[in-house]
Amino acid sequence: MTFSPNDTLTLISPNDQLPYNSDDMPLKLGVMASGSGSNFEAIAQAIADRQLNAKIHVLIYNNPDAKAATRAARWHIPAVLLNHRDFASREALDEAIVQALHDHDVEWVIMAGWMRIVTDVLIDAFCDRVINIHPSLLPSFKGSHAIQQAFAAGVKITGCTVHLVRLEVDSGTILMQAAVPILPNDTVETLQARIQMQEHRIFPQAIAIAARL
Ligand code: GRF
Repeated sequence: MTFSPNDTLTLISPNDQLPYNSDDMPLKLGVMASGSGSNFEAIAQAIADRQLNAKIHVLIYNNPDAKAATRAARWHIPAVLLNHRDFASREALDEAIVQALHDHDVEWVIMAGWMRIVTDVLIDAFCDRVINIHPSLLPSFKGSHAIQQAFAAGVKITGCTVHLVRLEVDSGTILMQAAVPILPNDTVETLQARIQMQEHRIFPQAIAIAARL
């Protein structure tokens, strides 16, 4: 793999091919999303393109306006709304999420833009099988507004990270990262768009890697 100065990606991966897990049973995925759902869509597309041997059994979303739900309908994937405002505590919400995931026979939980902090109720129910994507090169710029944090810090390279979920926010074993340079004329919006392009590339690949750990 070679790079020119204009490349926006460095894949930290054994190779540039998706490790298509064709010999295995399809991974049973449940995706959790709060917003646009572009990562949900990228995973669904990777499955359709036979780049990831998996099936999305259900989408869980917490925001009634989440575009992710519209995307799920287009893919004929069941979607369950669990509005966090309807629950007394984070644990109560996570109990309902775990129930919905079990109801749909889910084995792997994919947090694709889930904007709520999760508790040990979810993490313990799916031990080492909860995966998150974060728009920075962890362990830098944890928490919310990671892209703005990187921009404000003046770093020249940022990116995205797919990792296993632990109780501490944005920690846990790193599965895969992609680096994205911050260009002189970048705005937060242009940078975010390029980071998301890389998220869509590495997320399906990282799910296959997680299944082989
Ligand atoms: C992504 O940038 C992800 O890194 C962050 O939330 C965003 C979700 O985007 N956790 P989308 O809803 O998948 O389009």
